[in-house]
Amino acid sequence: MRTNLNIGLFGFGVVGGGLYEVLNRSKLLNATIKSIVVKDPLKKRSIDSSHFSFDKRTILEDDEINVVVELINDSEAAYEIVTEALKRGKHVVTANKKLIAEHLDELIKLSRENNVSLLYEASVAGSIPILRNLEEYYNNDTLSSVQGIVNGTSNYILTQSNKGIAYQDAVKQAQALGFAEADPTLDVEGFDSKFKLILLIKHAFGISTTPEEVFNFGITKLRERDVRFALEKGLRIKLLARAEKIGDQVVGFVAPHFVSPDQPAYGVNNEFNAVSVNALFSDRQVFYGKGAGSYPTASAVLSDISALQFDYHYEYRKSGNDSLSFTDEFKVKIYASSSNENSLKTIPFVESDEFYRSADFSYTTGWVSFHELRQHLKSSPSDLSIIIVEEPLKGIDTNLDRIEENKTTFASV
Ligand SMILES: NC(=O)c1ccc[n+]([C@@H]2O[C@H](COP(=O)([O-])OP(=O)(O)OC[C@H]3O[C@@H](n4cnc5c(N)ncnc54)[C@H](OP(=O)(O)O)[C@@H]3O)[C@@H](O)[C@H]2O)c1
Repeated sequence: MRTNLNIGLFGFGVVGGGLYEVLNRSKLLNATIKSIVVKDPLKKRSIDSSHFSFDKRTILEDDEINVVVELINDSEAAYEIVTEALKRGKHVVTANKKLIAEHLDELIKLSRENNVSLLYEASVAGSIPILRNLEEYYNNDTLSSVQGIVNGTSNYILTQSNKGIAYQDAVKQAQALGFAEADPTLDVEGFDSKFKLILLIKHAFGISTTPEEVFNFGITKLRERDVRFALEKGLRIKLLARAEKIGDQVVGFVAPHFVSPDQPAYGVNNEFNAVSVNALFSDRQVFYGKGAGSYPTASAVLSDISALQFDYHYEYRKSGNDSLSFTDEFKVKIYASSSNENSLKTIPFVESDEFYRSADFSYTTGWVSFHELRQHLKSSPSDLSIIIVEEPLKGIDTNLDRIEENKTTFASV
């Protein structure tokens, strides 16, 4: 057991402030915060100003500090801090999914070269211990999918929308309650979920992906008529981050989904998160909890700090398995709606089955190649609302030019 963890804490906001309290209240006696570095010298703090410094060197150049906990809200500054800390032989714990998703392989390499740990449990679904479970518990041969509601802001907004509250009003409510930032783009457009999905894919399937490879479609285009369509069919709309194995390929994307009452995601409401893991023998297992907030997120950070006492590091045992690769070549059933019927005609459906047309609202459901849909949405931005229909994804066997049904079980969280 490590004799002492001397922590240098960057950031004293929602999570950093929470960690300070949680650490003081926990029985983790081997860990103490030696220095705290923040940004704004004029800000009023909940603890004495003598605890704070504004120069990152206070922590990075202190040889007694062996753990850097990075909890700031600036991913570029965080990159400088984290890389420097790793190079100086300090363990790093962070909650910053954007930083990790954008630089995952480089940071893993740095941590290995310097023989230190890089842990980031809090960066995916807040308090839910999903990364360490994927890392330690599930064998990737038997894992078929990992998916979930991993963004509390968009889930809160969708929960209100599913009750019939207009999107803009739901955003305002979320902002008033502190669940959404003044600019909620990263959350509602699915970027935040995508960063988390990249980490889930790495720990579930051992595959490194980039933010450019993983497509995200958010909830800003949803219209009240889409919600009504869902309610009439007894469904709810949920933003899912979804990764699935299809044969020897892995697909991953973030998009709104129709979810039926028999799926766990149906009952995951407000700011809550849930991740479901499907595996051959254990079948579906669901992790549910608070995906954000001061104490819940701090508890995951604390758990990482605690793990450092036992020299824990991610081993990425599933990486290096060249038999699996990432692809966006698969078929998916979608619902697409628009105020302009002509926009629907441009969607590259390979098969469509349901149509509705009126002067100001039309929709179509049918199968598309995900790759082609993605190209289409990129090249011709429109008011199209796209929702994934609850049907198994289908792989594309390009050699035989035929559709092969995904053999893994489809299950939303
Ligand atoms: N909030 C959540 O529920 C939650 C959940 C999961 C993950 N996270 C992640 O946790 C991290 C922190 O989020 P948060 O909500 O705690 O942010 P926050 O409340 O906005 O606090 C950010 C803190 O970072 C400090 N800071 C900013 N730039 C800095 C720099 N260059 N050097 C030193 N300190 C700097 C700020 O200093 P000042 O105090 O001087 O302004 C502030 O104390 C982010 O990566 C976020 O994505 C948050």
